[in-house]
Amino acid sequence: MKAAIVGYGAMGRETGAALRRKGIPFVSIDPVAADADFRDITAESLAGVDVALDFTRPQAVRGNLERYCAAGVDVVMGTTGWYNETDSIRALVEKGGIGFIWASNFSIGIQMFLRIVAEASRLVDAVSEYDVFIREIHHARKADSPSGTSLSVAGVVMENIARKTVLVTDTLNRRIEPNELHLTSARGGAVPGVHEVVIDGEADTIELRHSARNRSGFASGAVMAAEFVHGKKGFFSMDDLMASLAVGKKGDGHV
Ligand SMILES: NC(=O)c1ccc[n+]([C@@H]2O[C@H](COP(=O)([O-])OP(=O)(O)OC[C@H]3O[C@@H](n4cnc5c(N)ncnc54)[C@H](O)[C@@H]3O)[C@@H](O)[C@H]2O)c1
Repeated sequence: MKAAIVGYGAMGRETGAALRRKGIPFVSIDPVAADADFRDITAESLAGVDVALDFTRPQAVRGNLERYCAAGVDVVMGTTGWYNETDSIRALVEKGGIGFIWASNFSIGIQMFLRIVAEASRLVDAVSEYDVFIREIHHARKADSPSGTSLSVAGVVMENIARKTVLVTDTLNRRIEPNELHLTSARGGAVPGVHEVVIDGEADTIELRHSARNRSGFASGAVMAAEFVHGKKGFFSMDDLMASLAVGKKGDGHV
């Protein structure tokens, strides 16, 4: 497999390091990055390329995709912010006859965490003695709170626990209601990202925690996505990648 990294910025470079670690050859394409191999997506820059990993900006997604389709190159779409155009992007992919996988968070650890939280939430749904809440911690430079990932975690909890119907992300100056799910954020230091789901009852506490060390989790997940989408046709999400990891493995997935 030969790859192209399109957008040789922070994520593009991290993904390049992950490709190098796996011995996968690649070219880099970026209109401004001084050390990129090419400036534009053309037949020349995509010569021999099987999969393009795109970490650019939302406004570039459609135009880039038209070029990948013209060259018959499969796509790992890491660029975020185009999701209100999903239907037309999907139509382009299908018309182009290429493979396309997208995620707002390619970290396999977070994808595993979301599925563990879903299973834990189904147990909490069945056992009313236990309550649940969410905590997240990020570095002092983070501009937004709560984190987008913590909102995904909250979505998974609420989808699976019928009695949790309202998400509360503010400070509470009153008692919390039983149907409310409290998500709290702390900001400080250099913490790359911690997400915790706490399941608490009278007798004991269960704490599920995902702690990111750096951005390499995004990059290695994007490389797994490239290996997954290579040679496939159609529009895929991380659900498809995660489902493929479970196929043919020991057991049937139940404990
Ligand atoms: N899916 C994930 O897991 C994940 C993780 C982190 C970031 N992201 C997303 O990846 C994207 C890039 O993030 P970043 O932090 O690397 O940004 P960045 O600004 O560091 O890098 C973006 C690069 O893309 C280049 N670029 C812009 N338009 C281009 C085009 N048409 N063709 C080629 N290159 C082009 C820019 O010159 C720049 O070097 C953002 O949308 C971000 O939200 C996704």
